Parts: sequence; C-alpha cells; structure tokens
Amino acid sequence: MDAEVLVVGAINQDIVIGVSRHPQPGETLMATRTSQGPGGKGANQAAAAARVGARVALASAVGDDEIGREQKRALERDGVDISLVRNVVGVPTGTAHILVDESGENTIVVAQGANAYAMSSLETSSHRAKVVLVQNEVPFGALSDAARFARKCGARLIVNVAPVPEAPLDFYPQADPLVVNEHEALLLAESDNTDPQSLARELMARIGMRSVVITLGARGCLLAEGDAIRSIPAVRVDEVVDTTGAGDVFVGVLAARLSAGDGLIEAAERAVASAADAVTWAGARPEQAT
Ligand code: RIB
Repeated sequence: MDAEVLVVGAINQDIVIGVSRHPQPGETLMATRTSQGPGGKGANQAAAAARVGARVALASAVGDDEIGREQKRALERDGVDISLVRNVVGVPTGTAHILVDESGENTIVVAQGANAYAMSSLETSSHRAKVVLVQNEVPFGALSDAARFARKCGARLIVNVAPVPEAPLDFYPQADPLVVNEHEALLLAESDNTDPQSLARELMARIGMRSVVITLGARGCLLAEGDAIRSIPAVRVDEVVDTTGAGDVFVGVLAARLSAGDGLIEAAERAVASAADAVTWAGARPEQAT
C-alpha cells in the first residue's frame, strides 16, 4: 500500500480509572468511575491522521486475544491499513492503566505486552509513505527500522518522544520535527528551563534536529525550525473533560497535514485545533459518530 502516513507504534487497551485526585505513594483511593477503550500512542495517532483524511498504515503488534482482535477492528473502522500489525502468540495485547482526575489531568502506566514484539520488517515490505511517524512505546529496533524505511522511500520522519527516552540521543537528529510536550522536552534537554523558547533552543543545540514542536497544553504549542521560533496559541474550550490522547490527536493531525503538503506552521495550527476538541471527550479515542 502507498500510505501518506505510516505510523510505527503501540496498540493498547486503555483501562481508565477516574479519581478525585492523584494518589500519593503508599495511598489507596476509591475510583469515581472506570471504563475501557482503544488506545496506544501509535494507534491513536494513526486513527487521528485517518480521521482528517490521510491514507494511513500502522505497523504494530497485538496479542492473540479478543482485546487485540477488537483493537484491530476499531482501527479498520477508522480506515487504517493494519496489514503490518503482527499477531503475537503467547503474550497479551498491551494495556495502559490511566488515572484521570477531576481536572482532566492523567497519569499513565503502560504494560507493553505484544508491543515489545512490534518489529515491523518494513525494509522488505512493498509499502511506501510520504511521512513516517514513530513514538517510544515500541522497542528501539522498530524505530530504527522505521527510520531506515523513511530514508529508503524519501519520507519525512516525525519522532514523538513519548515516553522519554528509549532511543539513544543520536537517533533524534533525523526527526523533522521532533515532537515533545514540556515535560519530555525538559527531560530530553536535561534542563530546568521553564521558558519554552529557551527550552526549544536548548533542545535544538543539544540534539541538532531540523525542527522541534513543543506542545504546551492549554497554551498551544511552540515551533522551532532552524533559527525561527513561532508560538501557536491554543483554541479555548469550555470544559476540559479528559486530556488523555489529546497529544496523540495533535501529532496524528500534524503528520496528516504535513503529508498533504502543509508547512509546519499551517499543520500545527490544524493540530492545535483538533487537540482542543480532543480534551472535550472522555478516553483517548472514542468511536466516531457516523
Ligand atoms: O497518549 C495516550 C495513550 O498513552 C493512551 O491511549 C495509552 O494507551 C498510552 O499509550
């Protein structure tokens, strides 16, 4: 398949637990609600790109279980090509255990499951792509395979460094852009700089990639491309329900728009608007109304 966006990343079943506040170490809290649904940064980003009209393929892995089969069906309903999703026998599909507090903020612990086997064998596949998108929820081998594939077909490589950092630092200069949230940027730059512009400069100097996007939640995002730095303001929303997966919507839409030929600023403006929508719904990736 000729994809516009090829995503190499994780598929998880999200187990969401509502809490009045996040617990302290050693503390037990009662949940205010629970739910389950499709997730995984790779799958979320692939679906977000497909939902804005891009032709998307996902390279990933699920366990040989009903959860994995349902995850694949959900991706197909979003129009994502899953021919590069492996079924791994003897391990469960990945799960993410997500606490969401009353302000919509989350903390996530991922049990990698089959994603540990998400080696994509892209070099021998007949797929092609304009944009290749990776995150850090799959082994580094899958990322380096994806980067080689991107070079082979002349695709742009987008690296979303979430979580930080599985890949060695010398992997990141290939990213154009590198996409991080503030927390990830601080870790990657080994900095405590709270000014996003200086932080972006520190990150560019330390890693040496062509462009970086720092997502700033309710403050929008900041782009740095060469010497140019630009802020994109957030789109206001009436009520934040759940921030889970909003970053994935941002990255997926950014990838889709870059593959369609937008410049980084235009693509980031679209991505900010879509991410604002995403905080108004519960869960990483609710089914779309048809
Ligand atoms: O970014 C949100 C995602 O992170 C969730 O869907 C969860 O699966 C974790 O991977």
